[in-house]
Amino acid sequence: MEKTFLMVKPDGVQRGLISEVVRRFESKGFQLIGGKLMMITKELAEKHYGEHKDKPFFGELVGFITSAPVFAMVWEGENVIAQARQMMGATNPKDAAPGTIRGDYAVQVSQNIIHGSDSPESAEREINLFFNESDLVEYKKDI
Ligand code: CMP
Repeated sequence: MEKTFLMVKPDGVQRGLISEVVRRFESKGFQLIGGKLMMITKELAEKHYGEHKDKPFFGELVGFITSAPVFAMVWEGENVIAQARQMMGATNPKDAAPGTIRGDYAVQVSQNIIHGSDSPESAEREINLFFNESDLVEYKKDI
């Protein structure tokens, strides 16, 4: 079954939106198999956002993501990578449709509530950056 890495960013945690994000993915029918509240170190932030290292906003991005706790998660389900991206909405909240997480809760691209893997390769890389295999609990729903 496909897995993806999702993270409620510092703005989402500070605004009390962890439960809203989790509720949306649970209600949709995806399964949470790992989750933790944590501070991201500068080293982890630079690895996680490595593909953006030459962008002018890289310093701001690393500064923001390390500024306060994040809620890191692994979700499982059919087509969860692409579907989660749809549920999150466009990266820039000004382009995100109402009904999406960013469309409903964000206005600035630098504080857009949630991060989600954009491909199977990123999902595998990001899950492994944030979680050990023993942190993930795969289970069959039987109630
Ligand atoms: P995310 O999905 O976490 O991946 C990279 C992040 O960079 C993105 O969400 C945005 O929050 C952030 N980002 C993209 N463009 C800009 C920008 N112009 N200024 C600041 N942050 C940006």
